[in-house]
Amino acid sequence: MEKFIKEIPKAELHLHIEGTFEPKLMFDIAKRNGIEIPFASVEEIEKAYQFDCLQDFLDIYYQGAGVLLHEQDFYDLCFSYLTKCAEQNIRHTEIMFDPQTHTERGVPFSVVIKGIHRACEDAEKKWGISSLLIMSYLRHLSEEDAFTTLKQSLPFKELITAVGLDSSEKGNPPSKFKNVFKASVNEGYIPLAHAGEEGDADYIWEALDILKIKRIDHGNNSMQDENLIATIVEKDIALTVCPLSNQALQVVPNLSTHPLKKMMDLGIKVTVNSDDPAYFGGQVNQNYIEIQKALDLTKKDIYELAKNSFEYSLASDDLKEIYLSELERFYLKNL
Ligand code: ADE
Ligand code: ZN
Repeated sequence: MEKFIKEIPKAELHLHIEGTFEPKLMFDIAKRNGIEIPFASVEEIEKAYQFDCLQDFLDIYYQGAGVLLHEQDFYDLCFSYLTKCAEQNIRHTEIMFDPQTHTERGVPFSVVIKGIHRACEDAEKKWGISSLLIMSYLRHLSEEDAFTTLKQSLPFKELITAVGLDSSEKGNPPSKFKNVFKASVNEGYIPLAHAGEEGDADYIWEALDILKIKRIDHGNNSMQDENLIATIVEKDIALTVCPLSNQALQVVPNLSTHPLKKMMDLGIKVTVNSDDPAYFGGQVNQNYIEIQKALDLTKKDIYELAKNSFEYSLASDDLKEIYLSELERFYLKNL
């Protein structure tokens, strides 16, 4: 089963580039940029990665991202993640980045996106991995601030496919960003959002009804509301589920109580993703491996999850067809 999971072609649809920042790379970049970080060793950093909730994690995550200054830093961060994609048979990835985490510190938007984009181009040339970018607004900041980010993004519009909404969920409902999402859609960006990770089902309703999102990041708390489940199924909206993240942030007590299989049985289109792999103890394959064990998933379930990852991606229909036919061949050979 582990071999099957590692080898099956897949896409990753929920990944924060800042959340791929491994302690070793963080140390190296901090050193070359002459920035002090409050940890003496890689081991000390890893020990600090114990979280009671989303906010605990976010405090450390934003601190870590604070050492990123130059285009090369963003390139190195992103290329390091894409190297791991190549090793895990990830054929396609949709990368979220948080511009405000960097522009707030005086790093220009152009520096962030150019570094990330160049890494994506190189990974495409080297391994044939396709990727696209999701610009995420930080929901703990104001809508006005998000509008500033939208404006900064416009010269790079061709490099960005979608907008997302992340950071501290409780107290920052999707409706707070109604106008900026509308403006983003008018610019051609596809609307996505984190919803129902810590926030209740009503946040998911708002993300669907007010922000008109095309995919739900997390969506765990959709399980609170039967009407919502029916709507998600009827609208054919996929969930980007992140099992190890949910465990690390105590969204679920442990993986054996994770609702992923229940969601699949209800007809919800689910995908498996790593969210912030450097912080939550595993890349995408580890997420598949651990949730498979915890919920006793079959090869067919794993195949369905991989299939959803391509079908509900934002890739072109031509690319989807190529990936889905490769997946089909793999599955028939490895049943
Ligand atoms: N930013 C990075 N990871 C996140 C998560 N799991 N939820 C909300 N914001 C995030
Ligand atoms: Zn996330």
